[in-house]
Amino acid sequence: MTKRVAILISGGGSNMVTLVEAMHSGRIEAIPVLVLSNIPDAGGLAKAEALGVPTAVVDHTGFKGDREAFDAAVHAALQEADPDIVCLAGFMRILTPDFISKWDGRMLNIHPSLLPKYRGLHTHQRAIEAGDKVAGCSVHLVTSELDAGPVLGQTEVEIRDNDTPDTLAARVLTEEHRLYPRVLADFVRQ
Ligand code: GRF
Repeated sequence: MTKRVAILISGGGSNMVTLVEAMHSGRIEAIPVLVLSNIPDAGGLAKAEALGVPTAVVDHTGFKGDREAFDAAVHAALQEADPDIVCLAGFMRILTPDFISKWDGRMLNIHPSLLPKYRGLHTHQRAIEAGDKVAGCSVHLVTSELDAGPVLGQTEVEIRDNDTPDTLAARVLTEEHRLYPRVLADFVRQ
């Protein structure tokens, strides 16, 4: 059966767009059933609408730090869309273990580093400051430990002598757009 995929975003949604386009073209044998953002004016929402994908907003600021209540609202929106797989794509909220356990083995994330290196934020700056010669991106299964779930795919990106966090981020993002659809295509076939 064709798998149903929901995508959670917080920003521009360029990774989300590559996933949706790959589903629409048949490169990923799945259908995008929902794009959900925790930021009401996230640029990715308009892109999802233009692609004909249903959207939802669960604004975390309305929950005043109550992570359980926020996650319950996200879960309710997901249940309506009834996805088989949830893809985090630039989703900048930390999810509760209880929520994550509901999607155990069915929730993926893309992270802009070669995990297990540089979990968390500011990955490109940290890689440059460490004098690394290679950076990259990883797609992994989401577990309750941040950015620590099993890695499903990685792409390396050379760090150049004159790289800034921004120039490196731009080249890594280009590779994210290749990696995430490839990994999801394999994942839905399992
Ligand atoms: C990507 O670099 C992703 O790895 C990181 O946030 C960025 C999101 O970009 N977590 P976009 O919203 O997919 O354009």
